[in-house]
Amino acid sequence: MTTAILSALAEEQQGLIELLHRPRRVERAGRSFWQGELHGQPVVLALSRIGKVAAATTATILIEAFDAQRLVFTGVAGGIAPGVQVGDVVVAQEFVQHDMDASPLFPRYQVPLYGRERFDCDAVLSSALIAATRSGLQQLGLQAAVHQGLVASGDRFVSAAQEARDLHAALNAAGHAPLAVEMEGAAVAQVCHDYGIPFAAMRTISDRADDTAHLDFPKFVREVASRYALAILDAFMYELK
Ligand code: ADE
Repeated sequence: MTTAILSALAEEQQGLIELLHRPRRVERAGRSFWQGELHGQPVVLALSRIGKVAAATTATILIEAFDAQRLVFTGVAGGIAPGVQVGDVVVAQEFVQHDMDASPLFPRYQVPLYGRERFDCDAVLSSALIAATRSGLQQLGLQAAVHQGLVASGDRFVSAAQEARDLHAALNAAGHAPLAVEMEGAAVAQVCHDYGIPFAAMRTISDRADDTAHLDFPKFVREVASRYALAILDAFMYELK
């Protein structure tokens, strides 16, 4: 069973490529896909690229061209719920698109023709990801909080405290209480829903989606997120053995 590992950022993928046994690089749609084995299991690694459309294309190629039978995503996100701090990890239970609005034709946040606002992650794969997150953090000697819940995706880098508050309030008013905001997960969750493929996702909190988000983000990615992703995914593939 081939596991696809999607990374949002090259820094998060590099360590995995180095761990890959019998690595082979294949080009498709202007993207590089790395096939090989981790802990004796077939994997294919890809960068999601940024934003919902790019990530949906990457996910579709992983399923259609590389026969991925489960997808796991790692990346960073902005914390928007109170108590979700830089350095914490969020394992997604569900995703919502915060910029989906076909009202008044469909209720706000509902994805037209699906009759739903949220797409679920797979419970079994997510449990394995939580266990791997805890053991990866332990290996790194870190005591970061691990949250589980809703993540909101949209084609915006949220970098103003007022915008983050407004987004959080509007989603909450509609019955959605997101922990974090990012730019790809809901799209990948929707593609996996379409194909009936299990999906799990973890996001390390790089910023608070506020006025310093654009400064916090690159520093965090370079210095921290890459180490988190590698330790957690290595433990995850070991868990799935
Ligand atoms: N990914 C990491 N931080 C983010 C933010 N503030 N907004 C959107 N995506 C992000």
